[in-house]
Amino acid sequence: MNKKQEATPFYSKLLQYANSNTTSHDVPGHKLGQIDNELLDYVGINMFRLDANAPRGLDNLNKPKTVIKEAAILMADAFGSDKAYFLTGGTTMGILAMIMAVCRANDKIIMPRNVHKSAINALILSGAVPVFVEPKIDENLGIANHVTYETYEEAIKNNLDAKAVFIINPTYFGVTTKIKEIVKLAHEHDMFVLADEAHGSHFKFSKELPMSAMKAGADIAACSLHKTVGSLTQSSIILTKGKKVDHVRLRSTINMLQSTSPSSLLLASLDVARKTIYFKGPEELPNIVKMAKKTRDEIGKIPGLKAITKKDFLELGAKDYDQTKIIVKVSNLGITGFQAYKELFDDFHIQLELAETHLILAVLSIGTKKKDLDALVEALKKLSERYYENAKPLKHKIIYTEPVSSIRPRVAYHAPKKYVRFKDALNEIAAEMIMIYPPGIPLVIPGEVITKKILSDLKFYQKSGSVILSDTDRGYVKIVDRDEWDRKEDPNEIWKSRFIISKLQ
Ligand SMILES: Cc1ncc(COP(=O)(O)O)c(C=O)c1O
Repeated sequence: MNKKQEATPFYSKLLQYANSNTTSHDVPGHKLGQIDNELLDYVGINMFRLDANAPRGLDNLNKPKTVIKEAAILMADAFGSDKAYFLTGGTTMGILAMIMAVCRANDKIIMPRNVHKSAINALILSGAVPVFVEPKIDENLGIANHVTYETYEEAIKNNLDAKAVFIINPTYFGVTTKIKEIVKLAHEHDMFVLADEAHGSHFKFSKELPMSAMKAGADIAACSLHKTVGSLTQSSIILTKGKKVDHVRLRSTINMLQSTSPSSLLLASLDVARKTIYFKGPEELPNIVKMAKKTRDEIGKIPGLKAITKKDFLELGAKDYDQTKIIVKVSNLGITGFQAYKELFDDFHIQLELAETHLILAVLSIGTKKKDLDALVEALKKLSERYYENAKPLKHKIIYTEPVSSIRPRVAYHAPKKYVRFKDALNEIAAEMIMIYPPGIPLVIPGEVITKKILSDLKFYQKSGSVILSDTDRGYVKIVDRDEWDRKEDPNEIWKSRFIISKLQ
């Protein structure tokens, strides 16, 4: 343990400011909590006092020189990286920034198709060309897992001109691939390795967890400390390692996406969460893993339910599984995960992280208490009592299907568009992203063909009451207007034929 990690340079300075009785003639307009309202009543004056907008002495996130810089050095040290950047726009912003910093227009990037929407948006913004690699499908759970080493190897060997390889470490469900071996192979071919570590920020702090992207040698990783480490929602970091990273470009890209009024509360929460996980993680994370295992065993005894284990994922070829997650297959009760998610909330006041067709997912952290897990087990017992006796197997099977790319995402984004009803969208090219949230992994992305399977999955998700995110109102979808495409000249050549992946039919 490094004693230096006890310091919280940014938070300590902010606290000093909050207690300094300074008269505010700057923004934010709440004037350190001098406007009465319900939020002030609930959270108290202290939160407002800490919500300062870069007063003197508190450094500048766009060009850190003092306390933010010191906090970032401690962050990098704690996470085993060379450098760390603080973000107040979540890992969404981190993924945008790392892809845009590394890939220029027309650079190829090898990435799983089951990426978070931010990676697809990064393709639109950067103009990078995706080489999608298909994840392993878990037919039992109806979810997409890791991408195997062999699949990455084939993609790398068939695309030696690729600039970067993108790895999800881990998936939303906690599954990892052979990241170390993939990094080695990618580096042998002079490719960058970028890791989406939104769900893996805690990995570094326990040997019982999968390998972190920095340990595996990835060049850049984006980590949501708010998801599993305990900082405030939206606070994330970018970590870097090695000499390949162009820090001037990365910094300028981050600044392009970062608000000029970053939340000091979020920054302070990063500083404090880093100290906490550094000192408490190594002792408390193994306890959480133990508690999760015990909970899985108990759930396994409940009729009609199965808690998925590390062994189950290893048998499917995964490298590792983050055992601080609890996945419960509920569909043998004859109900969907969506229904279980809703009933657990409505009837038992239990908020889960995610539901899928067959499963529900609980995410644990060092903040999880035994009583919380007991409550989950008790509620699941009641759910089983409700449904087990008359359970009929689920009819609709959502199985991730290989998407059909037609044109590049950026081309579709800039192409002429029109709106049609879902029922009339068969075989059209999507001009928007449609996803179920959570997990925020797109069913279809701009440039892909809207297939029969996508339409039937969407209908199913609509019926099941899932949150469907898209640009267009319910019932309609934005597609590429092929007639207009043929008619229209494109003076900027943004979306004409040279960008076509497979010819428009
Ligand atoms: C796999 C994955 N990557 C990235 C993100 C984005 O992270 P954030 O919510 O910190 O913006 C998410 C969010 O759920 C995610 O699930």
